[in-house]
Amino acid sequence: MSEQQQNSKSSTYQVGKAGQQAGAMPFHKYQPFQPVNLPDRQWPNRTLDKAPRWCSVDLRDGNQALIDPMNVAEKIRMFELLVNLGFSEIEVGFPAASQPDFDFIRRIIEEDRIPPHVTIQVLCQARQELIERTVEALQGAPRAIFHLYNSTSTLQRRVVFNLDRDGIRQIAVNGTRMVKEAVKRLDGTILHFQYSPESFTGTELDYAVEVCAAVADEWGATADDPMIINLPATVEMSTPNVYADQIEWFIRNFPDRDRIVVSLHTHNDRGTGIAATELGLLAGAQRVEGTLFGNGERTGNCDLVTVAMNLFSQGVDPELDLRDMKHIRETVVAINKLPVHERHPYAGDLVFTAFSGSHQDAIKKGMSQVDRDHWQVPYLPIDPSDVGSSYKETVRVNSQSGKGGVGFILEEFYGISLPRDLLVEFSRDVQRETERLNREVRADEIYQLLLDTYSKEQGPFRLVRYDLAHGDNDQQRCSARIEASEQQLDVAGEGSGPIEAFVNALVDALNEPLNIVDFHEHAIGQGKDAKAISLMAIDDNQGGRVYGAGVSANTITASLLAIISAMNRRWVDH
Ligand code: KIV
Ligand code: ZN
Repeated sequence: MSEQQQNSKSSTYQVGKAGQQAGAMPFHKYQPFQPVNLPDRQWPNRTLDKAPRWCSVDLRDGNQALIDPMNVAEKIRMFELLVNLGFSEIEVGFPAASQPDFDFIRRIIEEDRIPPHVTIQVLCQARQELIERTVEALQGAPRAIFHLYNSTSTLQRRVVFNLDRDGIRQIAVNGTRMVKEAVKRLDGTILHFQYSPESFTGTELDYAVEVCAAVADEWGATADDPMIINLPATVEMSTPNVYADQIEWFIRNFPDRDRIVVSLHTHNDRGTGIAATELGLLAGAQRVEGTLFGNGERTGNCDLVTVAMNLFSQGVDPELDLRDMKHIRETVVAINKLPVHERHPYAGDLVFTAFSGSHQDAIKKGMSQVDRDHWQVPYLPIDPSDVGSSYKETVRVNSQSGKGGVGFILEEFYGISLPRDLLVEFSRDVQRETERLNREVRADEIYQLLLDTYSKEQGPFRLVRYDLAHGDNDQQRCSARIEASEQQLDVAGEGSGPIEAFVNALVDALNEPLNIVDFHEHAIGQGKDAKAISLMAIDDNQGGRVYGAGVSANTITASLLAIISAMNRRWVDH
């Protein structure tokens, strides 16, 4: 090994040692999650083809995680949003633990705010006085789900309750018996029952089945009148495939499975709460609890908007109305007083936006060919307009962008379609401008830069005025006063149209070649403010072309100004 090789080896080693010390993190403190023994698991072979029963827990789990929990007015606003989105099951609170929750529930019942398709759900622990208070909160409700829970995991049994398996099962069964008795006092309420073995993912599976089956027995659940068993990943502890295995194992081993509706309730500690829910549905669950945009304890609950939109993007009716995503997001942000990230799937401000040049090119091409009934556009998994976003948002221009982006913006915002060689040339100017400003440039800034660059008043030539008249033999006559190097010149010429007449007049007077090699015109704006932009290219006398632009309410004036601008640019820049 040469000395140089040895040096470079040792310096690489030094960098590695300083920059990434293997073993520096105290990973030995943690144990891997034990997988489920389910070699014949079925869920990986399935696909999702229908929406689950949705239950929003924004007003309970979401609310419990807020820095400033919702007041009654905010709860009403959230409830109305959820109703309008189409939720038919809404967990409205934990009334025995929170006075605002109790008051809110009383209000929506007493003010008759619960529409006929909506069932409210209330959470309660397995304690007599809490169950009584919860029933008090529910008096007069047309439909309700009484949601009972207790912790069942090995860790909670040992650390929090100091009880064995029988003791914890007994809490669940006794709680169920108490609920069964207490709800008899609800007059006229169609009542359903839900049980959650809280911390299910940390519970031995056979024991989770044992507890839930004992609860179902105690409640008297039947296939005709099933109860809900909600299986929470109270803390997300494993990869989502393991959660799916747990759900499939549970369902396969639950006695008389038809007497329960299996519900999922995931949290997002590992960042895979949505994936866990989706795989749990493949594993046979029928119902999903979660919140809008995933607000919830610690890293949040399952984000129902994303799960629903994921179904939608696969051609499945999500059975939630998410068409006005901006309104939904703004309402949730206002109530929760927590932001929704710009890159939040489907809902963030930037999720349909491409900055990078190659992405912009592909989007521009895709959008020009798209069949709106069979959406297929590169980099846009769904049609932004399906969630109320405008196509204009799909492309924004910064120093990473290219001609596709600049062209798209000029077309979408101003209806100006630049010829390819002008676009290539101008997008370099735009890139320089983004680098100079060190930020994104807005559509109006791009347009202004186009005018500043191509509508050149600086230079020797200026159009002072012009007149058009009929000439001989059906020809058009153009007489104009121009300024050339501060001298006023009256020129005149004839041609088959006003532009040709003007060009001939200039060629005669100035005695320099002037060939129009490209010409485009676009209307900008509408009605009385409408203008035309004319883009003219003249020969640069070296085999290339020089573009000029002119803007005027009169299309002929715009064209003559564009010719003068191109002449100035040829003079100044070439
Ligand atoms: O995360 C959880 O376990 C819960 C239960 C009360 C369902 O929120
Ligand atoms: Zn939860």
